[in-house]
Amino acid sequence: MFINSAATAAFTLISYSFTLIPSVHSITVTFPNIPPQNATMNAVADNFLGVSYELSSFDTLWGKTADAVPEAMQNYMSNLNMRTTNSLRIRVGGNAMDGSTYVPTMTDQMLVLTDPDAYFNDQPTNFGPVLFDVMNTMAEKAGQMQFIIGLSMRDPSNDTNVIQLSQAAESKLGSRLDAMLLGNEPDLYAGHGEREAYNISAYIPEIAQVMNDMRGQSLLDKPILGGPTVCCSWSLGDVLNAGLKDDGYKYFSIQHYPNNACSGLNAQNTNMSYYLSHTNAHSFTSWNADGINLAKSLGTPVLLTEYNSVSCGGSNISNTFGMTLWAIDAGLQSAAQNVSAVYIHTREYGVTYNLFDPPSSKNSLDPDWRTGTMYYAALFLSEATSSSTGETIVADLNVNNSIYSSSATVAAYGLWSVNNNNTNSSSDTRNKLVLINFGTNTSASTQLFEISAPPSGSSTTIQYRVLSAPSVFEDLDISWANQTVLRNGLLDGTQETRTMECASGCTIEVPGPGAVLVLLGEGSVFYIDPEPTDSSSNDVQNGGVQRRFGSTSSSGVVACVMVVVGFMVGVVGGFV
Ligand SMILES: *[C@@H]1O[C@H](CO)[C@@H](O)[C@H](O)[C@H]1NC(C)=O
Ligand SMILES: *[C@@H]1O[C@H](CO)[C@@H](O)[C@H](O)[C@H]1NC(C)=O
Ligand SMILES: *[C@@H]1O[C@H](CO)[C@@H](O)[C@H](O)[C@H]1NC(C)=O
Ligand SMILES: *[C@@H]1O[C@H](CO)[C@@H](O)[C@H](O)[C@H]1NC(C)=O
Ligand SMILES: *[C@@H]1O[C@H](CO)[C@@H](O)[C@H](O)[C@H]1NC(C)=O
Ligand SMILES: *[C@@H]1O[C@H](CO)[C@@H](O)[C@H](O)[C@H]1NC(C)=O
Ligand SMILES: *[C@@H]1O[C@H](CO)[C@@H](O)[C@H](O)[C@H]1NC(C)=O
Ligand SMILES: *[C@@H]1O[C@H](CO)[C@@H](O)[C@H](O)[C@H]1NC(C)=O
Ligand SMILES: *[C@@H]1O[C@H](CO)[C@@H](O)[C@H](O)[C@H]1NC(C)=O
Ligand SMILES: *[C@@H]1O[C@H](CO)[C@@H](O)[C@H](O)[C@H]1NC(C)=O
Ligand SMILES: *[C@@H]1O[C@H](CO)[C@@H](O)[C@H](O)[C@H]1NC(C)=O
Repeated sequence: MFINSAATAAFTLISYSFTLIPSVHSITVTFPNIPPQNATMNAVADNFLGVSYELSSFDTLWGKTADAVPEAMQNYMSNLNMRTTNSLRIRVGGNAMDGSTYVPTMTDQMLVLTDPDAYFNDQPTNFGPVLFDVMNTMAEKAGQMQFIIGLSMRDPSNDTNVIQLSQAAESKLGSRLDAMLLGNEPDLYAGHGEREAYNISAYIPEIAQVMNDMRGQSLLDKPILGGPTVCCSWSLGDVLNAGLKDDGYKYFSIQHYPNNACSGLNAQNTNMSYYLSHTNAHSFTSWNADGINLAKSLGTPVLLTEYNSVSCGGSNISNTFGMTLWAIDAGLQSAAQNVSAVYIHTREYGVTYNLFDPPSSKNSLDPDWRTGTMYYAALFLSEATSSSTGETIVADLNVNNSIYSSSATVAAYGLWSVNNNNTNSSSDTRNKLVLINFGTNTSASTQLFEISAPPSGSSTTIQYRVLSAPSVFEDLDISWANQTVLRNGLLDGTQETRTMECASGCTIEVPGPGAVLVLLGEGSVFYIDPEPTDSSSNDVQNGGVQRRFGSTSSSGVVACVMVVVGFMVGVVGGFV
């Protein structure tokens, strides 16, 4: 379905004209007509960005029962979902799910914590089928979703509970069940005391055993398993070569953080400069490159099912705008290095790297949720990978030698729209640019980027949106396309898209610190905010989600509208 008029009307166009004054400080962006050969194998869908949740706090975020799903969370999820045509990716799991027990008879609430003295990074629960009811309800309210859950490998000698859980997940989530990750971070089992000694040779036959039992219950009739979900000490390539590559997995999964705070704050996990270096983002994402590329050559997608700034709950710099930029850089870098989707991890109330927090750990139904700086990275990434053909190729443009030069304070990515009619990548078209200025702490460090003209045949006018904050240490005053996420996940402000004439190239100012998403070329699409709906026309079928248009009353339709440069085309996505 297409709505041209709505797209035109909802679109704020502001013309900015900059004179092309050559500047010694400007960075030249070379955006080739066709993507580099080594990037073309990884065409990512527009739902490249997902959200990962730890099971033990999931009820405090999504609700304890299906009739108590917090409106704030519906808004947060819907904002992301509206920006893509494909279903929003959600993963529920973590150490918590690995250590939990599925109790089919527990039908009054999603979960209970079973060990009040448990280590805070590994809280076991008993959980029941309400988990799936809540997940389905959210998908009905906040737009279509595809779910990944965790299956424990801590006691494969008795997998009765694993079988029960996977049966329930398959039957209750149905086609929304994207995958089940068999075992969470098995490379830490020995370190965490799950096993005395544990290595890949012990792991592989255990996986085979559980798969065999699942197959016996017809749970593997189609590819549905993911793994090995290694995080730290095993190499993905070693696990695949030890046998996992022949197990018929749907996905291979890894989880990674650049630093940890497991023993408190230290010089590394509080080091802002580390996160503002594109060279570091590149090395971080290269972890397991051999295994990822092996998986890619076998045709199996690799998912980064958890990432965030500092594991074990973050540090004192995890909720800063610096981390917004880092998460965008690490996310796009993953796309450029053969990863098919990335999931930003979020946890219980008070963890500094969270995307969002309820007003307290007990009152998720109350208003006044807090938006974390990582949420802006999620919004940005959800918009960045949209494409009229549904698939995008991402490559690091290595501006100012930023992959290798630690003195560079910039980064840029090229995004090409995949031409699905033609397998020859020379027919893929330049679509978008992401320009990042890691800047400094101050607002006085705008960076100029010189870009070349849009591809011939498309409009010579480019469009772009700006992400900015006063400092890399900022935690609240962040603006994405002139919008700020207020409490409760409501976007405040009118979405702003700037335009610029670029017939023979042009210069774009990226505020410091900040990032810009540029749209150029035919086949480029931006998500556009739907027009505010008249409150008198509100309907009641949306479950009472508060939208920014509806003040305290429920609003009506939330559409996913996108614009294509040169000619405007709208696409209607999920209705809330
Ligand atoms: C991919 O190709 C580009 C361009 O040829 C090259 O600069 C880059 O180093 C290659 N990347 C990898 C990971 O091989
Ligand atoms: C296996 O686990 C199930 C459910 O968790 C439990 O009821 C059963 O007693 C266990 N069996 C053995 C032999 O430990
Ligand atoms: C794995 O651990 C087992 C038992 O501790 C040991 O016998 C085996 O040699 C180890 N394998 C490797 C590859 O290290
Ligand atoms: C902080 O990060 C910068 C940039 O990567 C690095 O040069 C510096 O050594 C780091 N400092 C510490 C204490 O880790
Ligand atoms: C992606 O994987 C393919 C297949 O292994 C490989 O040829 C290509 O170089 C990889 N791309 C990058 C950027 O590493
Ligand atoms: C974070 O904590 C470290 C170590 O305690 C301290 O040196 C640093 O100033 C703190 N940073 C911020 C942004 O609060
Ligand atoms: C570009 O690279 C040069 C040389 O490494 C460096 O001096 C300069 O600060 C860098 N500029 C930016 C904006 O990255
Ligand atoms: C692909 O083919 C369809 C149908 O022929 C056409 O409408 C569309 O424009 C083509 N897309 C591209 C990118 O060439
Ligand atoms: C792809 O198309 C380009 C030009 O259209 C041509 O030069 C190249 O040989 C083609 N590559 C393949 C693999 O067909
Ligand atoms: C940011 O400013 C603080 C003091 O305000 C300074 O200590 C720090 O080095 C600056 N960091 C960067 C990355 O410029
Ligand atoms: C930014 O949002 C504010 C508040 O809605 C609005 O008044 C203003 O016109 C917007 N600015 C632009 C440039 O769109």
